[in-house]
Amino acid sequence: MSDADPTPALTAIGGLGLAAEQAALIRGALASGFLARCRTSVTAAELTAQTGLPHVPALCTALVAAGVLTAAGDDAYRVSDDYAGLFTAGADSFALRALQGVAVRERLVESHFSAAGSGSYWEVTDADRAALAASVTVDPATDFGRGAMAATIEAIPEVRDLVHGDARYLELGCGLSGALLSLLQLYPKLTAVAVDLAADLVARARAQSEALGVSDRVRFEVGDAAEFTDDEPFDLAFWSQFFYPARWRERTLANAYARLRPGGWLAAPALIVDGDQLAAPDAALNALMVSAWDVPVRTAAGLVAELEAAGFVDATARTGPVNTTVVARRP
Ligand SMILES: C[S@@+](CC[C@H](N)C(=O)[O-])C[C@H]1O[C@@H](n2cnc3c(N)ncnc32)[C@H](O)[C@@H]1O
Repeated sequence: MSDADPTPALTAIGGLGLAAEQAALIRGALASGFLARCRTSVTAAELTAQTGLPHVPALCTALVAAGVLTAAGDDAYRVSDDYAGLFTAGADSFALRALQGVAVRERLVESHFSAAGSGSYWEVTDADRAALAASVTVDPATDFGRGAMAATIEAIPEVRDLVHGDARYLELGCGLSGALLSLLQLYPKLTAVAVDLAADLVARARAQSEALGVSDRVRFEVGDAAEFTDDEPFDLAFWSQFFYPARWRERTLANAYARLRPGGWLAAPALIVDGDQLAAPDAALNALMVSAWDVPVRTAAGLVAELEAAGFVDATARTGPVNTTVVARRP
């Protein structure tokens, strides 16, 4: 038995527990629309009448204590200045998706301490897979999401120069297609084909493409990206590599190469830029999540080498405002 003072560890764990509960508080406030009702000053009585919720005063007190709401006079509350920006351009949707993803990841992380583990991304429930898929992308129905994608593309000249023209774009592992549906809105001459193994996600993405008015420029296919064929070549392919287990990567890259026209570009986001980043808590947890799916944790340099080994040339890591993307050309 150690005789070290337990206080520092218990204080740290207390802080983590509090943060987890406050994340749940904010997740509930966002998902229910409760927080959006507080964009302008509102009383607890008005909130109770609007929502029918039984514990509004206590919810408001907890949200004030978390710095999310601020008291605005007699029994009235509004979103605090620190959190007011959430309701700019739909950033609240991005925040909610991130927090809903965390709720699933918490269970996945904990499950790794049992022999059974949680199974792969394709073995979790549809709802959990959708939450994970939503948490790694943008909401294409928001200016915030489209803005993030526009900034990402502008930081990658090889891709930027293509999407402004009538390029054919292939998404290898489209998930909910947040990025692709944003690009189709931003670049009206772009056309695309999106492939994913997960039929539930493809159905959601297809429905959203209709709602966003871009369904005439995108075709969705359920299937293995390594098996996907098309009569026409593509100018650009996007490979969500950190969702691809080792056993699928070589075949998928060979097919990406075959689907691209000579001179076409492949883009793949790097989960980590370099190995040192794994010392950071978020990068270490990202690495845990994907390695539990047999996905190799590639640095940007590792991804460059993998794409070169698949025959691509001019492989370069482009660091943008959101992430680092490796691009490479089919000679
Ligand atoms: C979650 S998406 C990435 C985010 C997406 N780019 C977006 O903007 O929404 C990655 C997807 O790759 C898919 N995937 C992984 N391996 C695949 C394969 N061999 N064939 C097709 N899809 C695959 C997964 O099912 C997963 O849904």
